[in-house]
Amino acid sequence: MSPANTGSGAGTTLSAPAAVRTAGGAVLLDGKMVAARVRAAVAARAAAFAARHGRRPGLAVVQVGHDAASGVYVRNKRKSSLEAGIESFAHDLPADTGEAQILALVHALNHDQRVDGILVQLPLPAGVDTHRVMDAVDPAKDVDGFHPVNTGLLAQKRPRLRPCTPFGVIRLAQEYGIALVGLRATVVGASNIVGRPMALELLLARATVTVCHTGTRDLRAEVERAELLVAAVGRAGFIPGDWIRPGAAVFDVGINRTASGKLVGDVEYARAAERAGWITPVPGGLGPMTIAMLLSNAVDAACLRMGTRA
Ligand code: GUN
Repeated sequence: MSPANTGSGAGTTLSAPAAVRTAGGAVLLDGKMVAARVRAAVAARAAAFAARHGRRPGLAVVQVGHDAASGVYVRNKRKSSLEAGIESFAHDLPADTGEAQILALVHALNHDQRVDGILVQLPLPAGVDTHRVMDAVDPAKDVDGFHPVNTGLLAQKRPRLRPCTPFGVIRLAQEYGIALVGLRATVVGASNIVGRPMALELLLARATVTVCHTGTRDLRAEVERAELLVAAVGRAGFIPGDWIRPGAAVFDVGINRTASGKLVGDVEYARAAERAGWITPVPGGLGPMTIAMLLSNAVDAACLRMGTRA
């Protein structure tokens, strides 16, 4: 079965974006444009929440240390929150902050009634037990969807707060009318942040899912079979464009900086765009979608906590 671009994907909430084709011929999955539309809808919900509750939804973003890439993402998340009418609580801790202090901050944020969502930017400095910190976040405020409770709910087909990048892939597919039911979907990468929850999201959407990782024997054969491919490896051009199945939908989660300073994905883009039916650009694909879904989660968390819809 090949992806049917019927424009009638389940859950589509906005009118389908106009199909713009890449130089290679594939339809460009314009994450920047769809993310702007998602953010506008989030802003309307945040305003309705504020009118109803007399306060804006609140999102705390915690960064420990000075990792340059994390710094860019964190600034972006905080700026986008404010633009969407979400209160931003910034906590920047020095790189030598101990685990106990980070846990104390997380506990304080769990109890702060102004805070509806908590995001602890990863990676945390060496020596800090990431699982202990993530497990300490109140699942009701876990806007990353990384807490085992939220992972478990997604695994059990009753998603609550959903990991932002995989949620962004699903949303982008829906907006472009890519029908996921029955699709042969392959995820390359099995991280807790992207690969594993991505597989659960695709399963929830009733795709037939394969997950590839460092133990996979014949990666090329798996990729060549994929009607929908999600690349989440974090290595520039890791997947040769020639491996892409003609007509496939390609979602490239990688954001890698080359020696010359250019941002590129995990898939060799130019050649892949000649074969794919749809493809995300890097940058401008899943990066903006991840932030948009984070903001959406923040308003969802606020509404869930207050027992209301907005
Ligand atoms: N580091 C890289 N991606 C993410 C993400 O989605 N959430 C958090 N908290 N840290 C990250």
